[in-house]
Amino acid sequence: MAGTLQGKVALVTGAGMGLGRASALAFAREGSKVVVADIDVENGQKTVDMIKKAGGEAAFVRTDVSKAKDVEAMVEKTVATYGGLDCAHNNVGIEELPEPLTEGTEETWDRIVDIDLKGIWLCLKYEIIYMEKHGGGSIVNTSSIAGLIGAPLQAMYTACKYGVNGLTRSAAGDYAKAGIRVNAVCPAGMHGTGFFNRMLAVQPGMAEAVKEMVPLGRDSAPEEVAEAVIWLCSDSASYITGIIMPVDGGFTIT
Ligand SMILES: NC(=O)c1ccc[n+]([C@@H]2O[C@H](COP(=O)([O-])OP(=O)(O)OC[C@H]3O[C@@H](n4cnc5c(N)ncnc54)[C@H](O)[C@@H]3O)[C@@H](O)[C@H]2O)c1
Repeated sequence: MAGTLQGKVALVTGAGMGLGRASALAFAREGSKVVVADIDVENGQKTVDMIKKAGGEAAFVRTDVSKAKDVEAMVEKTVATYGGLDCAHNNVGIEELPEPLTEGTEETWDRIVDIDLKGIWLCLKYEIIYMEKHGGGSIVNTSSIAGLIGAPLQAMYTACKYGVNGLTRSAAGDYAKAGIRVNAVCPAGMHGTGFFNRMLAVQPGMAEAVKEMVPLGRDSAPEEVAEAVIWLCSDSASYITGIIMPVDGGFTIT
């Protein structure tokens, strides 16, 4: 049976591990050719190997999403390798380890904003430049529940994720007529990700606290969030653009 994204070309950033890897594998399972973009060459190549082992098609492009030249080249290489770009999952985001706002440094701000906010803008920019001239496409940005609440002790990260939501909605409105849909997913805690593990290392009680706070009573697998990304990119979501979709087990209900 053909997949829901058969024959499409999909680009996933931060696909060397965590949600990006789960998303890249899911795009491949659904029949897409996948470009795996990451700053980490070894892990990115591992994702490509996993896709190939499962019978899919994938290529790695080393990219730092905070650098315009890299992001422009990432889109160019995608088109050069697979002849187009239909779907993009702009997923890279780094965590802010919990700290009072008053103790944050300019260095931390610059690093987080460069990667988590500017990185999403750069990806949108170069993907849209291509998609606008080539009949449209579908883009999903990874935001967070931190973009829907005020995440305690993570003001910089929270600010970036609200910014990702803003970029998503502005881009969705501006490029709908060009046939480009732009949406965002907002995960809560995803176990097994580098991000979650690093947060756990400094907040050992976090796993239990998440279970308490999430109505469904557990954290998620990154694969559960990847399914929402795939659905948003598919024709099943053809009338959906500009949504900021919680994939959070109900965390943001109250
Ligand atoms: N893990 C969670 O619990 C959680 C919760 C809510 C939202 N999120 C969001 O989900 C997204 C993915 O997070 P994850 O948990 O899979 O993270 P992760 O740490 O497991 O993986 C992130 C990947 O991004 C890559 N990366 C980092 N900086 C990069 C850069 N400058 N350019 C290119 N690649 C870079 C890393 O090498 C890594 O492969 C992020 O946007 C994060 O904010 C995560």
